Amino acid sequence: MIHVRHLTHRFGDREVLRDVSFRVERGEIFGFIGPNGAGKTTTIRVMSTLLSPTSGRVEIDGIDVEVDPDAVRRRIGYMADHPGVYERVTVGEYLDFLAAAYRVPVSDRPATVEAVIDLTDLGALRDRLVAELSKGMKQRIQLARTLLHDPKVLILDEPASDLDPRARIEMRDLLMELRRMGKTIFLSSHILAELADMCTSVGILEKGRLVASGPVDAIARALDRSDDGKARRRARVRVLGSALSVKDVLGSRGVEVELLGDPQNGLCSIGYEGDDGALADLVRAMVESGVLLVGLEPERNELERIFLEVTRGEVQ
Ligand SMILES: Nc1ncnc2c1ncn2[C@@H]1O[C@H](COP(=O)(O)OP(=O)(O)OP(=O)(O)O)[C@@H](O)[C@H]1O
Ligand SMILES: [Mg+2]
Repeated sequence: MIHVRHLTHRFGDREVLRDVSFRVERGEIFGFIGPNGAGKTTTIRVMSTLLSPTSGRVEIDGIDVEVDPDAVRRRIGYMADHPGVYERVTVGEYLDFLAAAYRVPVSDRPATVEAVIDLTDLGALRDRLVAELSKGMKQRIQLARTLLHDPKVLILDEPASDLDPRARIEMRDLLMELRRMGKTIFLSSHILAELADMCTSVGILEKGRLVASGPVDAIARALDRSDDGKARRRARVRVLGSALSVKDVLGSRGVEVELLGDPQNGLCSIGYEGDDGALADLVRAMVESGVLLVGLEPERNELERIFLEVTRGEVQ
């Protein structure tokens, strides 16, 4: 649905995107992650026909953004990183006005606006002035506006940047609902946790280069190979008493044990090689040595870990 090939962009003689290539298939939620200044917004602006690429090609639904930008615009719903909203109108008026701007026929307009208000749960705010709403609500109105012309693809530049945790969860649920409706969603963020539980695939950009892309678990598996090709994994362990008891037993078995806070909290993170069978062996060793094991779970924040492993964290 989105196909980016060898995309390069320069501002003057500054090369901001270098040979970026990736694909987003129909129905995916694709997370575009990168530190400040990596080039996310620049990529998004090219995809949204607002900026011409220096070289390379971008196609949306099979249409080249340079060849037929109008056709691309009809297919995408684009939300800028800090979009402006008209303040002195009500939410209903705002959406009605934008539906007109998107050339929704007059006869269809009330039903279109109603459907979007319903979908984005803005009914209670319909008659409120936009100026009176919180940032989070304005962000929701911006998302509503991108849906008015029923685009196949949503391109959202940091849609959750101004949201509190509850609003972020609501945004996530809304995006997942839109995906169920058949939309393809491309969104950027530098907040990894925000994307972890909703993206089907991610692309990680650093200094204008794509350093990893694909399904999250495939990237994680590729990174999980140590030099000799064996799988390396981490789990979080909770014991009664001191976490040093874990170190005593597993340290001698070549397991890396990292204490999490005061040992008396009984929390640590272990890094080991092998599959679930190897983990079961470690559990048995701990129990047989008298470690009071009360909890063990695989470490989950995959995206965070991938991000730290493939980027260097310098300001760009
Ligand atoms: N109009 C412009 N003229 C010159 N340089 C620009 C322009 N827009 C962006 N840049 C530079 O291009 C680089 C990439 O910027 P971009 O906004 O794409 O990054 P980003 O990944 O979206 O960052 P952020 O997370 O801060 O939004 C930055 O170094 C920025 O300073
Ligand atoms: Mg940006």
